[in-house]
Amino acid sequence: MSTSREHFSSKIGFILAAAGSAVGIGNLVGFPVAATKNGGGAFLIIYALFVAFICLPIMLAEMGLGRRTQHSPYSAYAELGKNAIQWRLAGWFATITPFMIAVFYMVITVWIFGYLFQTLSGNLEVIAQPEYFGHFVNDYSFVGYLIAVTLIINFILVGGVRKGIERASKILMPTLFLMLILLVIFVLTLDNAMAGVEFYLVPDFSKIDGSVINGALAQAFFSLSLGMGILITYGSYFRRNDDIVTSGKLVAITDTAVAFTAGLMTLPAIFAIYPDTNPESLSDSSVSMIFSFFPQIFMQLSDIIGYGFATVAASVFFLLAFVAAITSLVSIIEVPTSSFMEKRNVSRSTALLVMGIAITILTLLAATSFGLVPWVSHVITYAGIDKSLFDVIVDVFYETILPLNGLLICLFVRFRWKRENFAAELGEGNSNYATSFLHKYVNFAIGTFIPLILALVFANTVAAKFFGVALL
Ligand code: PFF
Repeated sequence: MSTSREHFSSKIGFILAAAGSAVGIGNLVGFPVAATKNGGGAFLIIYALFVAFICLPIMLAEMGLGRRTQHSPYSAYAELGKNAIQWRLAGWFATITPFMIAVFYMVITVWIFGYLFQTLSGNLEVIAQPEYFGHFVNDYSFVGYLIAVTLIINFILVGGVRKGIERASKILMPTLFLMLILLVIFVLTLDNAMAGVEFYLVPDFSKIDGSVINGALAQAFFSLSLGMGILITYGSYFRRNDDIVTSGKLVAITDTAVAFTAGLMTLPAIFAIYPDTNPESLSDSSVSMIFSFFPQIFMQLSDIIGYGFATVAASVFFLLAFVAAITSLVSIIEVPTSSFMEKRNVSRSTALLVMGIAITILTLLAATSFGLVPWVSHVITYAGIDKSLFDVIVDVFYETILPLNGLLICLFVRFRWKRENFAAELGEGNSNYATSFLHKYVNFAIGTFIPLILALVFANTVAAKFFGVALL
């Protein structure tokens, strides 16, 4: 079944779809908490520099490769890489990584959906109990939520690029911005909120060390959805005269702006309820913040604004997180789906059916990693730590292969595609690119220090995660 490739209908359609991918769970809680613990404004500055000087060039390379070939990652690498084994391998990594990241992200999204369902049912009091999350993750009610989330994602994706992804993004992203702004305004009116703003924004450069810098880069890389094949796939839905460069910049700015704005919700909320919070004591894990800490915050809030309003605030928060997660999942599941359509010449609905079944089975398995099924909860031990299937997926794909994929695209541009051809691709649709500073910078950086930094991050992660040796 060979059909001509679908394209985004407009620049704003692409920007909203790509921003939908980029704005995810990490933006809402992970980023603000990481910033507060690691030097506030100092972290924000470093993060912004990484977005502009390291992530943006990689983002443009991914989008350029997609648009140049009009293919999803595997075929894009295979075609431009003249079928050489190393580039086919890069294409394969860029296809399997989103598949596996979709599995771990799906587990968290299904939990968010469960919590949203509970708050909407008036059960804020129940989910705020300290032991609730432990019971929740070990309960088979998960399966019902998983089916609901899978149906929602398939409902969006079956419409294709314009009628599915683009249309959903045009509705969901403005809704997300609105909910976020409403929550920020509400939270900032609470007593003590400003203490949170202060911790978030006042720079403390003494906190910056190697691991903070590494963490900021990893966060920026993940937040912009790099290394997941998503922007190669979305790039392939661009037409030749579309402006990749401006669109890429706008996506990076939107994602960073949302992460920054979320800090004006998350931190003031924490400090309004617990004024004596020591920022150091906040959990690094977005999962424990979202599912354990935040429900308690909303419950405490009911002492100030009443249970009914606290339930509304909690529902808006979980809906916000759910929308952020769904638009990211849509983009990531599109990668293996479009690859499958291309490789097997099947229709979108057939590809979605196959992907849906495969991801659902793996998600079910990964979701039993928290004690429900003993052997899944302890599949392997490395670096002296007992790991569940969920942990292994996070360690291998999120921590390790993501930076490797970034490194591979830089090497691909430098040694196979060639930087002048890459620049010519970016110049199509943006006549100023050839003479811009950005052009000179991107061409230099992507062939020199960006791959070097990513190679170091990759080597350090492998050594630390799998062998328990810290190189940096
Ligand atoms: N940028 C997304 C986020 O910050 O959550 C990254 C992402 C993760 C995209 C998982 C898609 C996805 F399924």
